[in-house]
Amino acid sequence: MITLVTGSNGQLGKTIQSIIKNNSQFIFTDINSLDITKKEKIESVIINQDINCIVNCAAYTDVDGAEIEKEKADALNSNAIKNLVEISETYKLRLIHISTDYVYNGINKSAISEYEHVNPQNYYGVSKLNGEKHIENSISESIVIRTSWLYSSFGRNFVKTIIEKSKSKDLLKIVGDQYGCPTNANDLANAIIEIIKSKERFDKESKIYNFSNLGYTSWFEFAKVILKEANIKCNLEEIKTNEINQLSKRPKFAITDKTKIISAFNLKIPYWKESLMKFLKNI
Ligand SMILES: NC(=O)c1ccc[n+]([C@@H]2O[C@H](COP(=O)([O-])OP(=O)(O)OC[C@H]3O[C@@H](n4cnc5c(N)ncnc54)[C@H](OP(=O)(O)O)[C@@H]3O)[C@@H](O)[C@H]2O)c1
Repeated sequence: MITLVTGSNGQLGKTIQSIIKNNSQFIFTDINSLDITKKEKIESVIINQDINCIVNCAAYTDVDGAEIEKEKADALNSNAIKNLVEISETYKLRLIHISTDYVYNGINKSAISEYEHVNPQNYYGVSKLNGEKHIENSISESIVIRTSWLYSSFGRNFVKTIIEKSKSKDLLKIVGDQYGCPTNANDLANAIIEIIKSKERFDKESKIYNFSNLGYTSWFEFAKVILKEANIKCNLEEIKTNEINQLSKRPKFAITDKTKIISAFNLKIPYWKESLMKFLKNI
C-alpha cells in the first residue's frame, strides 16, 4: 500500500512526515515536485509510483487572501480536488482530503455534526466547500476531514504567534467572542495514519468527518492557556471581533462534534488542553 501525500511542506504535511520518517510506503510531494492543479502530472506519479492512496494536505489557506484571490483559491481548493477525485475514480485509489470548520455557518452554540447545514461565511470556506462537493459526489473511496485551529511546530499558527509576540510586546489584544476547537496537528496526523490502515472501505458511513481535539475555547482563553502553560508573563486584553480589521468574516461558533470519526475509526482524541500541554513540553 503506497500513500502519496500532497502539499507535504505545509503544517499538516510536515507533521505527517515527522511521524512517518523514512518509510518507503509514503511518498511526500509539494508544489515544486507535484502541483495538484496539473492533472496529467498527478496521473504520471500515480502510474509510475504505483500509488494506492492519496492524502491531500495541499490547499490555499490564506483566509483573508481568498477574498481577493478568489480564482487562486478556487483553482487549488476546488478545481484541483476535481482532478484528485477523477484520478481516484480511474485508478481506484483511496482519497483522504482535508477541509475546514469554516464551511459551517458559525451560529450554533452547541456542537455541530457533519449532517448539519453548511453555509460558509467567507470565500475560503466557499472554495473549500466546493472542493468537498467533488468528493461527496464521487464514487471513489474518498473522505473529507474537516479540521480547525491547527497548530504544530511547523509554519505559522496561533500557538507559535502568541509565543513569538509575547517576547516583544507587553500586551496582546485577543478576540474573545469567537469559539472553536484547537487541533494539535500531531493528533490529526495520527488519526489520518489510522484511517489509512483501516481495512474496510472507509467511506461506508458517508464521506464527511469532523476532526479536532475535544472541548472548545475562545481565541482569548486559548492564548491565556498557551502563556500559562509555557510559563510566559505577558498581559492579555480580551477584545471583540468588531474591534479588529479582518477582511473576511469568521464563524462565531465553530464547535464540532467528533462522535462520528471516533466511532467509525475507533479513535482516541485528546482534549485540547491536554494536547496543548504535551505540545508545549516538546518545543
Ligand atoms: N491551518 C489551519 O488552522 C487549518 C484550519 C482548518 C483547516 N485547515 C486545512 O488543513 C489542511 C492543511 O493545512 P495546513 O495548515 O497544513 O496548510 P499549509 O501549511 O498552508 O500547507 C499547504 C501546502 O500546500 C502547498 N501547495 C500550495 N499550492 C499547491 C499546489 N498547487 N500543489 C501542491 N501543493 C501546493 C503549499 O505550498 P506553499 O506554501 O509553497 O504555497 C503548502 O506547503 C488544508 O486543507 C487546510 O485548508 C487548516
